[in-house]
Amino acid sequence: MDVLTAIQGRRSIRSYRPQEVEEEKLLKVLEAARLAPSANNRQDWKFIVVRDKELREKMISACAGQRFVGEAPVIIVACGTEPTGIMRCGQYRYTVDLSIAVAYITLAAYEQGLGTCWIGAFDENAVKELLNIPEKVRVVAITPLGYPAIIPGPRPRKPLNEVVCYDKYTE
Ligand SMILES: Cc1cc2nc3c(=O)[nH]c(=O)nc-3n(C[C@H](O)[C@H](O)[C@H](O)COP(=O)(O)O)c2cc1C
Repeated sequence: MDVLTAIQGRRSIRSYRPQEVEEEKLLKVLEAARLAPSANNRQDWKFIVVRDKELREKMISACAGQRFVGEAPVIIVACGTEPTGIMRCGQYRYTVDLSIAVAYITLAAYEQGLGTCWIGAFDENAVKELLNIPEKVRVVAITPLGYPAIIPGPRPRKPLNEVVCYDKYTE
């Protein structure tokens, strides 16, 4: 599958089948995160693969009661392990690095026939307590991973001419 096909076809999946994710597919998805670029190639990250059923159920309340999060057989929790570094541009390295890695995860998962849904609505302290995440580590994103039960249609996007300008910023 080429990259644009994956980008065009990927959806946020909010309903999962109980079917397990094969180890081989899970490893391919994690490999996509491992190979993602990061500022200075520091790779200051940790991806927690949550498979334990009891933990997954507890993750539902930590994720604002979003039931589908625990419904998927796998949850990936993307953590920045050095969250203080700021780039020259003023942005925190870890939020950018982890966002790229999770974007790669979503695309690699789609290629494997698996669904994901970026979860930003979570209580970081609750997640950290559940998964023994050290205090200094930050949780950037969470995604369930599993076979989709329902695949929604595409959500609308703004047209290119609204989001792109050339040479100088124009409203
Ligand atoms: C930073 C971020 C946070 C998000 N948080 C949630 C979330 O907590 N729950 C959820 O169901 N979807 C969440 N989404 C998914 C978006 O709603 C979804 O990507 C958007 O509606 C476009 O739909 P699509 O991904 O199917 O193209 C999040 C997406 C991003 C990028």
